Amino acid sequence: MITSVGAVTKVLLSLHVLAAILAVGPVTVAASMFPAVVRRGPAEQVRLLHRICRVYAGIGVAVPVFGFATASSLGVLGDVWLLVSIGLTAVAAAVLVFQVLPGQAKLLDVSEGAVLTRVTTRLGMSTGIFNLLWATVTVLMIVRPGSTTGA
Ligand code: HEM
Repeated sequence: MITSVGAVTKVLLSLHVLAAILAVGPVTVAASMFPAVVRRGPAEQVRLLHRICRVYAGIGVAVPVFGFATASSLGVLGDVWLLVSIGLTAVAAAVLVFQVLPGQAKLLDVSEGAVLTRVTTRLGMSTGIFNLLWATVTVLMIVRPGSTTGA
């Protein structure tokens, strides 16, 4: 797949994929565990999971940064599969920043009651949507439908 591309592109693509694994991976795991741990885990664990999500969401900025660099190096910035991926990545980032992280922050100091149930249910939903969005982007990145360089 990347046999005829330059060394710079290979480095950029490697950094892009590494960033996706190292940053988005931990966010997915920590965010998915969060609702269950809020309900019956110790407060320190809840805080730690939130911290992992926050810190790795920040590191995750490297994914689109190297993504754009790889895309312009390959000359595929106008490709439909890429534009769709960019859109879905933006929506996933918005769900994370405006729904998941604030929802978690709201639960840090709540240990019981109706608020816990309501916010945890919403949080579970937005976390699921976030996971689904970036999993879709990953499949798009690999399959690249319609691309002449596609697998
Ligand atoms: C603004 C967002 C993004 C841009 C501009 C972007 C761009 C790119 C480009 C240009 C490639 C190279 C495709 C090729 O070899 O022809 C690529 C590959 C890849 N991207 Fe992204 N990407 C973005 C977001 C993401 C996200 C959010 C993930 C996962 C969390 C991801 C995971 C991957 C993976 C796993 C590959 C390797 C696919 C392969 O070589 O088979 N990307 N990306």
